[in-house]
Amino acid sequence: METLVRTVNGEGPEEYYKEASKILKKDGLVAFPTETVYGLGGNALDENAAKKIYAAKGRPSDNPLIVHIANMQALEDLTSSVPKKAYQLAEAFWPGPLTLVLPKSEQVPLGTTGGLETVAIRMPNHPVALHLIAASGLYLAAPSANTSGRPSPTLAEHVLEDLKGRIEMILDGGMVEVGIESTIVDVTEEIPTILRPGCITKEMLEKVVGQVKVDPAIVSKQGAPKGRPKAPGMKYKHYAPKADMIIFSGEQDKVISEISRRAKEAVTLGKKVGILATEETKDLYKVGSVVSIGSREEEGSVAKGLYKILRDFDHMQVDCIFAESFEDDTMGTAIMNRMCKAAGYAMEQV
Ligand code: TXA
Ligand code: MG
Repeated sequence: METLVRTVNGEGPEEYYKEASKILKKDGLVAFPTETVYGLGGNALDENAAKKIYAAKGRPSDNPLIVHIANMQALEDLTSSVPKKAYQLAEAFWPGPLTLVLPKSEQVPLGTTGGLETVAIRMPNHPVALHLIAASGLYLAAPSANTSGRPSPTLAEHVLEDLKGRIEMILDGGMVEVGIESTIVDVTEEIPTILRPGCITKEMLEKVVGQVKVDPAIVSKQGAPKGRPKAPGMKYKHYAPKADMIIFSGEQDKVISEISRRAKEAVTLGKKVGILATEETKDLYKVGSVVSIGSREEEGSVAKGLYKILRDFDHMQVDCIFAESFEDDTMGTAIMNRMCKAAGYAMEQV
C-alpha cells in the first residue's frame, strides 16, 4: 500500500484530519506525533486494528498497546474502576508523558491489551495527537511507530524509514519534544509501581501520591533485569542500533581515554567507529565519528537526541559504537534504561 505523508499542526488542515479519521474508522493505521515519540495509531476498540498494528510493527502480540485519550470521561469508559491515586496522578500530569495501568472495562478488547485484564491509558500532550483523537471520535491504541526492536521514532522520517508501505498514513508534525517514551505506572495496587521510567520521575510521582515502588525488573545502569518485568514490552531487546554498542562509565577523564584507546584499536582493525559523546566532551576525541547527544547540563536535550543519534549511527553504517554513560538519577534513569537496552547491557566500568 502507499503510505501518505501529510504535514499538519494542531490547527489543521482539517481535510487531513478528516482523511486520517476515515482511515482509522475503517480499522486502518495512522502514525502521529505525541510529545514523547511518534505513535502508530489504530482504533483501540477494534481487534482488527490491533492485529494490523502488531503485523505492521512485527511485534509479538502478547505485548499490550497503550490507549490514547483526549478527555477524562474516556478514562471512565475504558476502565472498570479508578482508584483515587490514579485520579490524582492524571490530574497532576495529564495531558503529559504518563501512562496509567488500570483494570480494563468490558469494551476494551483483549486483542488491544495483549490478553491482560488491565489497560494502559495516556492523555498525550501534543496538539496533533489531541486533535486527531477528537476529530476521529475514537480512542487510539498507539505503540511507538517503529519496527519492533528498533529505536522509537522522534521524526516522521523515522516512521517512514520503518513502516513505509505497511501503514496508510503518517501525520508529520515535526520533531517531538521529549524524545523517550512515557513513564508507565501500575495503579492497580495500593502502592503505585513504575513499570517503565520516563521523564516523569519517581520523585515527581511521590510528591503527588506518596510512596511509589519501582519494578525490580527494570533495566538500569546497575545491571541486567531481575525477574520478569510487569510491562511485557520491557522484556524484549529494544531501541537497538545495528552496530554493537558498549557503554563506559566512571570518571569522565578515564572514560574519554578508554573510549579513545578502544576507538583507535578498532580503527586499526579497519572498523568504522561511532562515538556517542556530549557537548562538553565531543572535541576531546580524535578518532571515529563523534556525535554529541546534547549537554550534560540539560538532561532533556540528551533524552530528545538519543533515538535520532542511534538511527544516525545506522545511516553512517558504523560497525561499533562507544558511548559515554549518564547519571542514574532523575531523568537519567530513563535515559540509561534505554541506553542499556540499546547496548544489550554491554557496560564497562573504567
Ligand atoms: O510515550 C509513549 O508511551 C509512546 C507514545 C506513542 O505514547 N508509546 C509507547 O508504546 O511507548 P509502546 O507500545 O512502544 O510501549 C508500551 C509499553 C510496553 O512495554 C507494554 O508492555 C506496556 O507499555 N504496557 C501496555 N499495556 C500494559 C498493561 N496493561 N500492563 C503492563 N504493561 C503494559
Ligand atoms: Mg515501543
